[in-house]
Amino acid sequence: MGKVVLGVTVGVAVAACAVAALVVGRRVRSRKKWKRVVGVLKELEESCETTVGRLRQVVDAMAVEMHAGLASEGGSKLKMLLTFVDNLPSGSEKGIFYALDLGGTNFRVLRVELGGQRSDLDPDVEQQPIPEQLMTGRSEDLFDFIASSLHRFVEKGNDSVQSSITKELGFTFSFPVKQTSVSSGVLIKWTKAFAIKDMVGKEVAGALQQALARKGLNMRVAVLVNDTVGTLALGHYHDADTVAAVIIGTGTNACYWERTDAIIKCQGLLTTSGRMVVNMEWGNFWSSHLPRTSYDIDLDAESPNPNDQGFEKMISGMYLGDIVRRVILRMSEESDIFGPLSSRLYVSFALRTPAMAAMHKDDSPELTEVARILQDVLDIPDVPLKARKLVVKICDVVTRRAARLAAAGIVGILKKIGRDGSGGITGGRSKSDIKMRRTAVAVEGSLYTQYTMFREYLHEALHEILGEDIVRHVVINVTEDGSGTGAALLAASHSSSGSVDNIQLV
Ligand code: BGC
Repeated sequence: MGKVVLGVTVGVAVAACAVAALVVGRRVRSRKKWKRVVGVLKELEESCETTVGRLRQVVDAMAVEMHAGLASEGGSKLKMLLTFVDNLPSGSEKGIFYALDLGGTNFRVLRVELGGQRSDLDPDVEQQPIPEQLMTGRSEDLFDFIASSLHRFVEKGNDSVQSSITKELGFTFSFPVKQTSVSSGVLIKWTKAFAIKDMVGKEVAGALQQALARKGLNMRVAVLVNDTVGTLALGHYHDADTVAAVIIGTGTNACYWERTDAIIKCQGLLTTSGRMVVNMEWGNFWSSHLPRTSYDIDLDAESPNPNDQGFEKMISGMYLGDIVRRVILRMSEESDIFGPLSSRLYVSFALRTPAMAAMHKDDSPELTEVARILQDVLDIPDVPLKARKLVVKICDVVTRRAARLAAAGIVGILKKIGRDGSGGITGGRSKSDIKMRRTAVAVEGSLYTQYTMFREYLHEALHEILGEDIVRHVVINVTEDGSGTGAALLAASHSSSGSVDNIQLV
């Protein structure tokens, strides 16, 4: 009997040990898995680090590259393109003007009635998505589509389509264009999701003008502008201290108001104002000081435009969601904290930035929105809370880096034009003594306007880089539909002032 009891006791003890070993083994394995994903996160955080010291290096690099791009054609990755816009709307513009805005995922047509005296603008706007096949097909199809939309829009309004009075049109075309005048220019390359091969190297306004003629529209492309330039125009219309404009949406870019004598690559450029708007095409900016990760390298290599638009790929809405997808994929490959590996994680751009922003701002205790998006968008169900928290953190790291780099870019422009406060410091004067002029920057684009955390991180970085004394003088103004409305304003200011002819290259 005693032997039996002993046997049972030993048996129970062995079983208990086995169970304990199993539990401990599982715990150890799970801890190891967790350690691996935490390692991935830590590595991401380190390689995305944007200390204020590093941001200042980016500021300096931006200012240096701006100089280089203005000094000679091809002197920098920053193209620093001439826009031939030599006067900005004053507020006295009058008349009815149209605009077409092409550049992101949506396309807009606008009609603006200007009453002079800096009147309130209340444009009629119609927006529609561009069918994806048109972004990569034939240029004629894209321009016919645009012209048809404009035709319908004019018809719907009170203006006659075939009127004998030629209507003036501002065309916002948000890609790098080598302008030959304020109303003409040649496409250098496509960016974002566009890739219409037969258009590269072709006259952009001419292609639209022909499509308008095909549709029987009596309209003249009065100005061809980048979206940043339209935004600067509207920004300046509302606030005369506006010296630069930045877009942070699907793509990113900036333009600013430059002295013509600083545009060394175009010697003898004479304008009435002595100035010209320069389209930087900052999406293509590059510097060894940019904090680059292995995810950026892979994204770039797999993109349709490798080695191009490096700054844009770290900052803009087209790419942020995809960087996050890549990090989640890496974590899922390293461990199974997200469950079985989902094939959706291998699909480029499966996670779009709006979904990423929605996860980032989820502050519900159970992170239910994060769970929903992981399930619906990436096919990853039943993610434990701990892993959901990790996803929010990834979004935070990626967005914070993007916003802080954009802030450094803005300060780079301010530095180039002597509005960052640094030029004014002379021996014996403290920073607060510097006479810093009020400086306004117009900003547009969904990342800035719709992604609160992005905007907050950008402002925080501006404060850190510039310091409280200087940042007080820098105003960020959000313009609404500036890229389109601004083009209509420029069509007005450039049709009435006749300044097109005032630009001379001597
Ligand atoms: C284009 C710029 C444009 C920016 C914002 C970039 O991809 O190259 O011309 O201003 O996107 O739309």
